[in-house]
Amino acid sequence: MLTMKVPLRAAEQAKQDLIRRGLFVPGYGVPKESEHLYFPVKERFDAPYDFVERDLDERPGQPGTLKEALAGKLPTDALDKLKTAYDQVGSIAILEIDEDYRQYDALIGKTLLLTNPKTKTVLAKDSRHEGTFRTQQMRLLAGEDTRLAEHKENGVVLAVDVEEVYFSTRLSTERKRIAGLVQPGERVLVMFSGCGPYTCVLAKNTAAREVVGVEINPRGHELALQNIARNKLLNATAYCGDVREVVPCLGAFDRVVMPLPKAAETFLDVALAAANDGATIHFYAFLPEDASGEAHGWIRDACQRSGRPCKVLGTVRCGQQAPRVCRFCVDFALSK
Ligand SMILES: C[S@@+](CC[C@H](N)C(=O)[O-])C[C@H]1O[C@@H](n2cnc3c(N)ncnc32)[C@H](O)[C@@H]1O
Repeated sequence: MLTMKVPLRAAEQAKQDLIRRGLFVPGYGVPKESEHLYFPVKERFDAPYDFVERDLDERPGQPGTLKEALAGKLPTDALDKLKTAYDQVGSIAILEIDEDYRQYDALIGKTLLLTNPKTKTVLAKDSRHEGTFRTQQMRLLAGEDTRLAEHKENGVVLAVDVEEVYFSTRLSTERKRIAGLVQPGERVLVMFSGCGPYTCVLAKNTAAREVVGVEINPRGHELALQNIARNKLLNATAYCGDVREVVPCLGAFDRVVMPLPKAAETFLDVALAAANDGATIHFYAFLPEDASGEAHGWIRDACQRSGRPCKVLGTVRCGQQAPRVCRFCVDFALSK
């Protein structure tokens, strides 16, 4: 097999260049020797590297990344713009495809089915997260025409409707972080609970006395009930409705989670009214990357209005909404 011998420091750039030109040959190991990698290539070309014949291990089970597999099939401008990262929700892969390249939907979808054996359905995002339910339209690129997936995360199995209910796999580390903070015997309220990822992960991985989710989207609530039952979570419950109406009927909580970063500040009064003295509140917000302090101002003002002194425990960055706009979680505690 013909290979191109590239110094390690230049390897990533050289590989991207090979893929872009359609010269990279997927399905083989890339050996490393002293300070060089040997990339399998289709042919010699004008490059500042040596070309060397080598025996390479075949990796038939690894047909390469989506970009590698599409090299030579998509025009280079489309290949350059293709986002390599995609979300995998159970057996559903969800891509973002530039509007100008929709004519390649089927090719991209079918290629992804071949490169990722776990994937049975390939969808593309057709809109941003919209409306009260924060849902996103999708179109089918290839595979089985379904929006329902079974996703495993932090020790629970979740039924997820990727089009009718908000769900993000990218929050799994954040859910684990919150689970690590829950103390034995706590009553935990999850406002805006969707199909129950926080509710289930906290109920499964902590010794909370009770974890209660509240969600306004009936489809999300239906799935949350299924997920609680499926994971046999006797310490979890879910209610359907607007938090403003439902939460005041649920009693007092030791911890409140507010995963509605688009508008959680408008519900701080509801969270504060439901929180015991000494409770911890996890408040999410989308803010410019250097402006997380704005959330501290909303929290301080809301606490002052309700006469509940509070202390910010910390702020973590837990995602990206847009270039230079991040999802932050501010953890704050009410005075005892
Ligand atoms: C960003 S999603 C988070 C869903 C879930 N917690 C998760 O992490 O996957 C926000 C959720 O809040 C719900 N929601 C919006 N306004 C609400 C309200 N007033 N009362 C209850 N739920 C609401 C939406 O339907 C949506 O499912």
